[in-house]
Amino acid sequence: MNLFLAAAAFSLGAMAEVNYQVVPLPQTIQLDESGKTTPLIKGQTVGYPADNAQMKRNAEFAREYLGLTPQAYEKKAKGLAVTLSLGLKSENPDAYCITVDKKGVTIQGASESGVFYGIQTLRKSVANEQGDTIALPWATVAAEPRFEYRGCMLDCARHYFPVEFIKTYIDILALHGINKFHWHLTDDQGWRFEVRALPELAKKGSYRPYTIVGNNVGLWDADNTIYDDTPEEGYYTQAEIKQLVDYAAERYITIIPEIDLPGHMVAALSVYPELGCTGGPYFVRPYWGVDPDVLCAGNPKTMEFIKKVLGEICEVFPSKFIHIGGDESPRDRWKACPKCQAKMKELGLTKEAQLQTFINKEVEKFLQERNRELIGWDETLEGGLSENATVMSWRGYEGGIEAAKQHHRVIMTPTNNCYIDYYQLKNQHAQPKAIGGYLPVSKVYDMEPVPAELSEEEGKYILGAQCNLWTEYVVSPDHVEYMLLPRLAAMSEVQWLQKDQKNFEQFTGRLEELKKTYRKLGYKFCTSQE
Ligand code: ACM
Ligand code: ZN
Repeated sequence: MNLFLAAAAFSLGAMAEVNYQVVPLPQTIQLDESGKTTPLIKGQTVGYPADNAQMKRNAEFAREYLGLTPQAYEKKAKGLAVTLSLGLKSENPDAYCITVDKKGVTIQGASESGVFYGIQTLRKSVANEQGDTIALPWATVAAEPRFEYRGCMLDCARHYFPVEFIKTYIDILALHGINKFHWHLTDDQGWRFEVRALPELAKKGSYRPYTIVGNNVGLWDADNTIYDDTPEEGYYTQAEIKQLVDYAAERYITIIPEIDLPGHMVAALSVYPELGCTGGPYFVRPYWGVDPDVLCAGNPKTMEFIKKVLGEICEVFPSKFIHIGGDESPRDRWKACPKCQAKMKELGLTKEAQLQTFINKEVEKFLQERNRELIGWDETLEGGLSENATVMSWRGYEGGIEAAKQHHRVIMTPTNNCYIDYYQLKNQHAQPKAIGGYLPVSKVYDMEPVPAELSEEEGKYILGAQCNLWTEYVVSPDHVEYMLLPRLAAMSEVQWLQKDQKNFEQFTGRLEELKKTYRKLGYKFCTSQE
């Protein structure tokens, strides 16, 4: 934290309202002692190096966010109000530095993504100002994120959200400096990824005629369960997905797809019952919970199916990481299945959990041949982890700690700090129905992704953190926004700030400004704090 910050901002008083104290807070905000300002005027030029398409796109974002006029420059930038440039000296490609002085405004990045984050910071700094001319105090404003992996997961299996909204969701991530969109595409309640080699899969597997009202009473307690009469349907075509992948990439966001296997597969089993241990029949689940029916690990057709699906996943998603789920996959069916038991004998396995490792290893090999890497939920540790797997620790920090000690890379997303499907206020009646729990914005903010149990060396295996938004009870785009905001703002400071730079009280003040911006942008958010 910069020592000049408080005093300088104070001495400027009413002269200039812009103070660059946005969310996530830049590491350095050094205001010039002169108190001078440079006007930022709508229609002014924003220059970008002529030979760089990404920088041109960055200039277009400056047009969209700040009303500036993009203009290419050769070698030397001259006479521009705002100059975008590369070459900032930093090991961190996402680092940026904004300089405001008599020459105007310069946003320099260590790479194109850094410039983008600098533009976002300038955008947020002025977003709540009125008029076409804004006085920018002379200053140096610099930042680099603490973690390279800064994620947010959205479950589009339990409820389908339209492509146009997924773009809005990506915009919201970009506003918060988040660079990974973990997209949960398949589950017991819906299959939403088009697989061209299996045309029936998404067509039939994406539809359920009704959905449970309220919480599960018990999966098979038909007498006491009430269902609505609203069909839930929809899936993403590969053409739509390619569009979204590009849309995200322009905003320096990688979409990491998740095909959850071998559990959470009933929607697929409803289309291909022969892939289940009992042979079904199965139906796309209209209720929630952990389902006993999973893919049969002893049927060779299961691996053929997985490879068809993941082959097409790799074709449409350029992400290095591919998430294969692996959570909540009960082994009861495998225990009772002659094919699974025969497979265990053949492989010399003694525990059903090892069948999951067998699947993971096959999948990892398949992904490696395509130059991809596997992410799995922390259950994938149970039967032994495949060699290069990355673990997403959700049931707490323990799985992540164990994985890091084994020198596996880890993404921390423990329920207690990161499950934004939980209630965000104490008074449950003051908010829409949620799955349970209680996760106020302060608790997200408190998260420390690198547990004290890890040595410095082991701590380096923690790639970052993410929030997860499961959507059993989240039914509309507005509702997604309400669950995300402002908790995502807290997560963005977990992801960007060093541990000793965080300060919840100060954050709360900055958050009030960000909320005004949410309002301007038309985003729904939770207005109370606890
Ligand atoms: C999970 O929340 N089942 C990963
Ligand atoms: Zn089986």
